[in-house]
Amino acid sequence: MDKELERRAALVSGAIEQLLPIVHPRGLYEASRHLVDSGGKRLRPSMLLLAAEAAGGDAEAFAPAAVSIELIHNFTLIHDDIMDNADVRRGRPAVHKLWGESGAILAGDTLYSKAFQVLGRTPAPPELLLGAMNVLSSTCTAICEGQWLDLDFEDRARVSEEEYMEMIEKKTGMLYGASASMGAILAGAAEEVVNGLDEFGRLTGMGFQLQDDVLDLTAPESVLGKRRGGDLMEGKKTLIMIHAFAHGAKVDVFGRKGAHPEQIEKAISLLDESGSIDYARSRAAEMVERGKQALGVLPDSPAKALLLDMADYMIRRRY
Ligand code: IPE
Ligand code: IPE
Ligand code: MG
Ligand code: MG
Ligand code: MG
Repeated sequence: MDKELERRAALVSGAIEQLLPIVHPRGLYEASRHLVDSGGKRLRPSMLLLAAEAAGGDAEAFAPAAVSIELIHNFTLIHDDIMDNADVRRGRPAVHKLWGESGAILAGDTLYSKAFQVLGRTPAPPELLLGAMNVLSSTCTAICEGQWLDLDFEDRARVSEEEYMEMIEKKTGMLYGASASMGAILAGAAEEVVNGLDEFGRLTGMGFQLQDDVLDLTAPESVLGKRRGGDLMEGKKTLIMIHAFAHGAKVDVFGRKGAHPEQIEKAISLLDESGSIDYARSRAAEMVERGKQALGVLPDSPAKALLLDMADYMIRRRY
């Protein structure tokens, strides 16, 4: 699995080099490329390529579409780090730490608009490209809705599990859904297959976000490339916090007032003891299982087997 994923990740990175050249004014493009060139797992574009292959398409020809997904993802990360006051991303300073907030807003906007231009360079019939464009644009709107809810919840004392699930479906699930369904659309797959892949991506993507919330508390910065306990500092209402509140765990809510590292460590121990971290892990596993069921629309193939492996990796991962 890892080798197969690495091969696709390398294909995407190579294509970015060609599709996003550094031109005048260089500072803008350097800021735009900073995060893109800092690595990342490239899971979403790899999912697009695997979905296209599993739906019978010529996956390698769809490299521009895969790049467009990765550019949208990086745009959301640059803006997310401003919103979440996060200084480190992929083990390097966040874009806004190096170019300031205005520079980071523009770098994100550049990746956002370039993504659609790059998608348009995918060699596919115009009607299929238009379908893919529609999916990508409506997904971007959904991400904004999800990110809005995520920020809104910071200021609320209580959030329900249903509200949390809606929020992560929009901020994270939808982009995975778009990755898988755009691969199928570009391959000319039937509607039933496109819908099945959308569901696969959306549900496994929600599992992925639950695992991200777990790793925020459990993975060291040196491995994760992001600050540990960032969600606690920002007052995020993750499912872990929602479970802890419901079970009477006395976890401090830091919100904007900030916290000392010892307070963060104490909160993490309490969340562990209350079973809240394990609860999120079990919900993540459930989402991934449901997502995998949706792949029943596809005939067996090596690419389908890799998609199923990828789904497991999304919650087994350590960074
Ligand atoms: C981080 O995504 C943002 C979330 C939706 C949780 P990834 O963990 O896929 O980030 P990279 O691309 O590998 O850095
Ligand atoms: C990110 O959620 C979702 C998007 C970027 C749309 P997080 O805020 O949890 O992502 P990380 O943990 O900063 O990567
Ligand atoms: Mg965020
Ligand atoms: Mg964040
Ligand atoms: Mg996170």
